[in-house]
Amino acid sequence: METDLPSAVATILRRAGRVVVFTGAGMSAESGVPTFRDDLTGLWARFDAEQLATPEAFHADPDLVWGWYEWRRARVRQAEPNPGHLATAEIETLIPGSVVITQNVDDLHERAGSRAPVHLHGSLFAPRCIGAGAHPADVPDTDPEEGGRLPPPRCARCGALVRPGVVWFGEQLPAAALDAAIEAASTCDVLLTVGTSGVVYPAAEIPRIARRCGATVIQVNPEPTPLDRVCAVNLRGTAAQVLPALVEAAR
Ligand code: OAD
Repeated sequence: METDLPSAVATILRRAGRVVVFTGAGMSAESGVPTFRDDLTGLWARFDAEQLATPEAFHADPDLVWGWYEWRRARVRQAEPNPGHLATAEIETLIPGSVVITQNVDDLHERAGSRAPVHLHGSLFAPRCIGAGAHPADVPDTDPEEGGRLPPPRCARCGALVRPGVVWFGEQLPAAALDAAIEAASTCDVLLTVGTSGVVYPAAEIPRIARRCGATVIQVNPEPTPLDRVCAVNLRGTAAQVLPALVEAAR
C-alpha cells in the first residue's frame, strides 16, 4: 500500500469549506468488525442475509435474528475505533461544518469523537419495540455464541417484542437521517467515500448526489468498486492507513 498521497488531494481537502465523510463496513474492518461482502470473513458468508436481515425473518424466528444481532453488538462493544475513525473526527475539527454519514450500525465514529454521525442504516445501540409506538428499549448487555439463539426481550411499556434498531432489507431508511445525508451531500465541496462497496441503495446515491452537485468525490478503498467512475481520485489503501496520512498532509 502506498501512503504517498497525490499532493493535489491534500490541497483539495485543505481548501474545502465543507467535507462529507461517507463510510461503510470497510471503515470498521481494521477495528475487527467484519464487513458484509468480503470473501470468507464477510458477515454474510457465515449467515444468509435474507434469512437474518429482514422483518420477515424476525417474525419467523426472532430468537435466531436477535441472537445474531446481539452477537454483533457484543463484538462491537469489544472493538475500538481505529486510526481511520480518529482521522475522520479530526477532519471535523479541522474543517468545521463537515459531516460524517455512515452506513455502519456500530458506534465507533462516536467513540472516536465524531460529533453527530448520521446513521443511514440505524444502530445496534438503539433497539426499539415492534409495537406501533416503536418505543426505545433498554436492553442489558449479552454475549451470545456466534450463531447462538437468544429470545428478544419484551418492551417494558407495551409488551411487544424488542427488535434491533437497524434498517432491514425492504425497510425505509430513517427519513431524518436520509434528509440530512442528502442535504450534506448536496452542499459539500468534497466527499470522501471510505470502505463501502457502493452497491446498496439508496445509501449508494449519496456520493453520486455529491458529484452531481459539483463536489470532488474521493474514494478510499483497497479494491475497485462501482464508485470508481464517480470519483475524481481513487486512493487504493485502507481507511486506517490512508485517512491519517490525508489529514496529516492537509493540516
Ligand atoms: P460491504 O461489505 O459491501 O463493502 C465493504 C467495502 O470495504 C469493500 O468495498 C471493501 O473493499 C472495503 N474494505 C475492506 N477493508 C477495508 C479497509 N480496511 N479500509 C477501507 N476499505 C475497506 O459493506 P458496505 O458497503 O458498508 O446494509 O455495505 C453496505 C450495506 O450493505 C450495509 O450497511 C448493510 C449491507 O447490507 C444493511 O444492513 C441495511
